[in-house]
Amino acid sequence: MEAVRQGKAIMVSRVIPVDPFDLVIFGATGDLARRKILPGLYRRFCDGQMPPEARIIGAARTEQDNAAFAEQVREAIETFLPAKKRDPKGLKAFLERLSYVAVDAHGEAGWEDLRATMRDNVVQAFYFSVAPALFGVLAERLHHFEIARKDARIVVEKPFGRDLGTARELNATLAAHFDEAQIYRIDHYLGKETVQNLMAVRFGNTLFEPLWNAQYVDHVQITVAEEVGVGGRGAYYDKSGAMRDMVQNHLMQLLCLTAMEPPARFEPDAVRDEKLKVIRALDPVAPVDIVRGQYRASGDHASYLEDAEAEVSRTESFIAMKIHVSNWRWNRTPFYLRTGKRLRSRKSEIVIHFKETPHSIFDADAGNRANVLSIRLQPDEGIDLRVTIKEPGPGGMRLIDVPLDMSFADALGPEVADVPDAYERLIMDVIRGNQTLFMRGDEVEAAWAWTDPIIAAWEARGDRPVPYHAGSSGPEEAAILMHRDNRRWREI
Ligand code: BG6
Repeated sequence: MEAVRQGKAIMVSRVIPVDPFDLVIFGATGDLARRKILPGLYRRFCDGQMPPEARIIGAARTEQDNAAFAEQVREAIETFLPAKKRDPKGLKAFLERLSYVAVDAHGEAGWEDLRATMRDNVVQAFYFSVAPALFGVLAERLHHFEIARKDARIVVEKPFGRDLGTARELNATLAAHFDEAQIYRIDHYLGKETVQNLMAVRFGNTLFEPLWNAQYVDHVQITVAEEVGVGGRGAYYDKSGAMRDMVQNHLMQLLCLTAMEPPARFEPDAVRDEKLKVIRALDPVAPVDIVRGQYRASGDHASYLEDAEAEVSRTESFIAMKIHVSNWRWNRTPFYLRTGKRLRSRKSEIVIHFKETPHSIFDADAGNRANVLSIRLQPDEGIDLRVTIKEPGPGGMRLIDVPLDMSFADALGPEVADVPDAYERLIMDVIRGNQTLFMRGDEVEAAWAWTDPIIAAWEARGDRPVPYHAGSSGPEEAAILMHRDNRRWREI
């Protein structure tokens, strides 16, 4: 979508269609496909981004025909997309693009049919929306039945391993059949509109980049707070916890984009090289700089243990930590990361707290002289810069900070503010062959190499997470982590 200014309003020009493609979704009847992938594709279709020759092929174990699959997809779209995002006319035409093949991942059945369905002269992409244990199996089958071409793309979901060892194994398994340039490891946070805007703000303005360093930045806060609990996916979550589920991937990516050096170009390897350098510059984290929490029942909310259907558990549903990027730019500037389930509200943001002006020409008690830049990921995507001004009126020079607030909805109008879901953007990037917003194998391994010793240390000590009330802003200990440094978290 390209926004162009016409008079006062910012208009959105038409989207540019991608090349014709065959996209095979393995796990097409599963949760992620129903919630995100298929509704996302439908939205891109309605927006005119899919050329008439584009086709989507569902693949899963269940035996069913095209019509039954299309019916499932219709139901998923009606369940997971609000009515205002649906176009009834478009729906029928979209469903006509779909076909379905039943395949047996471990056996022979269905693979010849799949091969017969694929066309030669269009982009070929395979989305592995399945358990990681099947990644290798599918890669091998595609190779064995000579279905995937040399230029085919495969898309793999998180979790990408549960530690360095398993991530390496997965990388090696995929590398046996596909080149790195063919592998698209999804971290859907990279597809969020505001996350990409972080790069636009940093590298498209002269205003911020000169100040983006330890000399001017006091600290950075990265928060991903969720209102939802772990109910419904407790079995998976209890084996992961917030560190593996959120920090190793989503928060790490946000940290990288915030802390990285300007890449020479906005190109896949240039960006990913810079992100990798950030991960490699991370210091190990001392136990005193980590708070792990687990929610307790409160009000109408069940406890973590009830949600996870576990009698006992040492898994954290909340984590806060103070970390350092040990390089010239960020010397001694702390990054505070925080994420949790069942918190007071859903709120994700990256906040840059600048230092106070070096000298005050005003009275000591005049007030605040520090700027804060916040990049709101969700909800209400936008960017807000707080600047110091004089409090209006008589009574001397009293300083207050006021927002220079750009809510996308206000600034760009409803059409642009109706931001595409992260998956919509990322799947189109796969078809375009653009890996910039996907993780490279070495990045994922570096992230685990940093994460593993932290987890190993708390497991060796037998640490238990501290309790916090469901619906609160997290454990008291997280507030103390900040108070110790004379700082405060932003409100959740
Ligand atoms: C997923 C995690 O990757 O991201 C979930 O596994 C989490 O636990 C989700 O709820 C959050 O994504 P979003 O886009 O809703 O912030």
